[in-house]
Amino acid sequence: MSDRRDIVGKPLAHDSARQHVTGAATYLDDMPEPGGCLHAALVKSPHAHARIVGIDASAALAAEGVVAFVTAEDIPGDNEVGPIFHGEPALAGEVADYVGCPVGAVIATSHDAAKRAADLVKIEWRDLPAILSIKAAIAAENWTSPPQRLVYGDPDDALANAQHILHGGLDIGGQDHFYLETNIAMATPLDGDQWHVWSSTQHPTEVQKHVALVLGVPQAAVTAEVRRMGGGFGGKESQPTIIACIAAICARKTRRPVKLRLDRDDDMIVTGKRHDFRADWDVGFDEHGAMTGLRVRLAARGGNVADLTSSVVTRAICHVTNCYYVPNVEATGICCKTNTVSNTAFRGFGGPQGMLVGEAIIDQIARHLALDRDDVRRANYYSPSRGLTTPYEQPVSDMIAYELMDKLNADADIAARRAQIATFNASHDTRKRGLATAPVMFGISFNMPSLNQGGALVHVYTDGSIQANHGGTEMGQGLYTKVAQVVAETFGVPASFVTPTSTRTDKVPNTSATAASSGSDLNGAAARNAALAIRARMAHVAANEWNVPEEAIDFRDGKITSGNYVISFGELATLCWLKRVSLSAAGFYSTPKIHWDQKRLKGHPFYYFAYGAAASEVEIDLLSGETRCLRTDIINDCGDSLNPALDMGQIEGGFVQGMGWLTMEELWWDTAGRLRTHAPSTYKIPGSRDAPADFRVHILENAPNREDTIFRSKAVGEPPLMLAISVWLAIRDAIAAVSGDDRALALHAPATPERVLMSVG
Ligand code: MTE
Ligand code: HPA
Ligand code: MOS
Repeated sequence: MSDRRDIVGKPLAHDSARQHVTGAATYLDDMPEPGGCLHAALVKSPHAHARIVGIDASAALAAEGVVAFVTAEDIPGDNEVGPIFHGEPALAGEVADYVGCPVGAVIATSHDAAKRAADLVKIEWRDLPAILSIKAAIAAENWTSPPQRLVYGDPDDALANAQHILHGGLDIGGQDHFYLETNIAMATPLDGDQWHVWSSTQHPTEVQKHVALVLGVPQAAVTAEVRRMGGGFGGKESQPTIIACIAAICARKTRRPVKLRLDRDDDMIVTGKRHDFRADWDVGFDEHGAMTGLRVRLAARGGNVADLTSSVVTRAICHVTNCYYVPNVEATGICCKTNTVSNTAFRGFGGPQGMLVGEAIIDQIARHLALDRDDVRRANYYSPSRGLTTPYEQPVSDMIAYELMDKLNADADIAARRAQIATFNASHDTRKRGLATAPVMFGISFNMPSLNQGGALVHVYTDGSIQANHGGTEMGQGLYTKVAQVVAETFGVPASFVTPTSTRTDKVPNTSATAASSGSDLNGAAARNAALAIRARMAHVAANEWNVPEEAIDFRDGKITSGNYVISFGELATLCWLKRVSLSAAGFYSTPKIHWDQKRLKGHPFYYFAYGAAASEVEIDLLSGETRCLRTDIINDCGDSLNPALDMGQIEGGFVQGMGWLTMEELWWDTAGRLRTHAPSTYKIPGSRDAPADFRVHILENAPNREDTIFRSKAVGEPPLMLAISVWLAIRDAIAAVSGDDRALALHAPATPERVLMSVG
């Protein structure tokens, strides 16, 4: 690959930036509805666990505008939406197993009529015992999938002989995705039992597959499509499948197009969130804080069904040691089955929870030995002398976390600011400050090797315009723009020549979710392969025309040249057409080097690691418990960034979303299993004023990926979220300044004002 880069690496604006800010971008609910389109509303279980004794929909059916009512009995095929395991229904059949569980849908001529009538459906229930918490699930040994266990070295021996040993525990709260666009789908019957489904999904293939299953038709009879989502954040990896399947069941019943849009409350009640976790550990270490042995149990609240929980827990296990070498490790992961909504993917996918535990352990060791946290980290980093093998036995060959941390400590003037903070704290009674750093080392690739494949379909038209289709979806992260840059670079044309189109399962089949931050790695590489195939054919035609070798043909600035010969890209495309040469190609990519043994939790699950480092300074108000982040410095490793403007947005957005998770977003269920924080009135996400007042974000320069990724870039979607661990640690430091280390260590997550207030007494 030539080193020249004309378009890749440039800070181009998001291809929809103008539409986003002017409100012109069409989301699914903005699209013109097909003639005769009906609207569905969910009928939900009010019980955490109950048997359905009888359903009486007569009042709902008699209501104005109502056309039909569906239950599981109306499903012609399999009532199955499970992404990994079987046995996960779209509509509950006999038993509902969380509050909000969809048991039916009312179909009416308007959204409001459907919503009103849904309340008129009468269901007779028989209550069953419910398990709501991680603790209760552990007591009952109630799992969504079997416990996972990783052993590296001899943890028993290491802990028995450790110079120091500490025990600890941490409760980590979940998080609602709070994407601006709630879940929505629109299913349309086509000729001959074929179906088209618009879905706000990160995973069109999964929608296609399960709509085909519930309707009892071949996958080939279903096309799923998505142009853009108003945010996904992992919440649209598996959850939209349920919504799309219910819309399809309604469309099948009425033989008309049906749209199902959840309002905010329903979206929060019905669909899964980030897993809350309980972690418990024993850690052995020496006088420098170097860990010699770690035993850790990570218990996640899975909810009513397995969904993606087993993979989330695996990723948590793989990130609990973050960027540190621990010679002896036993890590257990538990997927608790509870009568609460099924938790799911959320930016970081268990990595954040695992890493927070790792950093809490470092913090505990540092406070115990009265050492600087960064010195304890230095005693533990992966290094040639200490060790370069992860507990899951992947060699670490690209470790730069300590370099980033050293640079951050210098650039952000950490030592001097610590002294200033000590002075500030000594002279202020009702406000205290804290300053903390945090490194991030995040494994890139889906932790199921089979998912690491991407596909693309590129068309060049005779006017020289190019359509770039690929299996990835656009949720605001800028994937369409990055892929367009890759395609433009490959053809040597301006990015404006390339038109990204909606993602459709009939253009690119059998795709993976756009997830695990690997959208541009997989689809960018697949699109490059497709474009290279077409470019080779075009070069061949030009070489024949000019009677020059193909190697002498150059594609640049929208022109094709060789010596004195010049032809525009469009003219060459027309020439290819005249010569009956195909201007269309499918491209494919599969990630090399990866393998994984899910039974032993050993292998090489990640193609490479993405790194970052952050330092955050916070101030807590001892009277209200409120926290403000005064300043954050970040250095993030994006490899050779495909687009620094988009990557900057990902770093800032990911960090602030992580801050929300760790400081203010609190999900709260009552003792009957009802989520009581199901609207912005009770669930607080960060706003623009919550971002660090002084926010200094840097992309690490001259740091190409050592692996041969697309233009040597690195994935950026998820890793920056974990940089917010610096904020949580800084709050602990501020608490320690008033109430001492023990109170600081007792701070769980999120560090809400209530928790901070209780910590400072
Ligand atoms: N950025 C925006 N604006 N909106 C999103 O929904 N999702 C995040 C991240 N950044 C998200 C986002 C998550 S969870 C992932 S996995 C990646 O984007 C997915 O896109 P990528 O693989 O193309 O980076
Ligand atoms: N990330 C996101 N989704 C996934 C993963 C992952 O690592 N593994 C399986 N599904
Ligand atoms: Mo992101 S949680 O992998 O969709």
